[in-house]
Amino acid sequence: MLIGLMGAMPEEIEKIINSIQDKKETQNGNRVYHTGKLFGHNIVAVFSRWGKVAAATTATDLIVNFKVDKIIFTGVAGAISDDLNIGDVVIAERLFQHDMDARPLMKQFEIPLMNTTFFEIKKQENLKILNAANNFIANNSDFKNKLSKSNINMPKVVVGDVASGDVFVADIAIKQNIQKKLPSVLCVEMEGAAVAQVCNDFETPLNIVRVISDTATEKASSHAMDFLNKYASDYSLGIIKEYIQSL
Ligand code: ADE
Repeated sequence: MLIGLMGAMPEEIEKIINSIQDKKETQNGNRVYHTGKLFGHNIVAVFSRWGKVAAATTATDLIVNFKVDKIIFTGVAGAISDDLNIGDVVIAERLFQHDMDARPLMKQFEIPLMNTTFFEIKKQENLKILNAANNFIANNSDFKNKLSKSNINMPKVVVGDVASGDVFVADIAIKQNIQKKLPSVLCVEMEGAAVAQVCNDFETPLNIVRVISDTATEKASSHAMDFLNKYASDYSLGIIKEYIQSL
């Protein structure tokens, strides 16, 4: 099984790329794909860039040209649920596009011609990555000590709904609007639902792992950049390592 590993920021995927053995680089469509072995498993890792279009073209290339059997997207997100704190992990279950709006032709959030407002990752497909995230948090006391320096204590792992859109949410009014219109949504990011739509079209299995880097309010950009610089890659590599070792 060949796994495609995607991240939307270099910081999110850097440690994964540095850990690949027998690495080969392929340039395609403005992306660099890093193929090789990660913890003994065949993978191809790529920095997809930001936003739904960049993520969708990258996912399509992974599926059509690299012929991956599965995609795992790791990255950061802004909390929409008030129960989430910076450092918590969200495993995506249903993915909405919060900026999709073809009213009055269709209801808000409906994906044109798909007769749905979300794409769903089945519970069974999420089991291994959920265990991997829980094991990563439970078994890494050094990392937890490092997190506690930023007042991140006892991070939790939850499975739930995610909203994606071509917007960096850094405004309490925009956050509250998403909370009101999509009340089940736990966090917001800029790629997941686009990758989920591509994977749905090609029937490619998918996991999306998001670590909360900010609370999607006015301090979001400084909190997100700080989190990306300090912790994002440790989470991505740590969770993927646990996942691959469980295969
Ligand atoms: N990724 C991380 N934080 C985010 C935010 N606040 N909005 C959109 N995407 C994000």
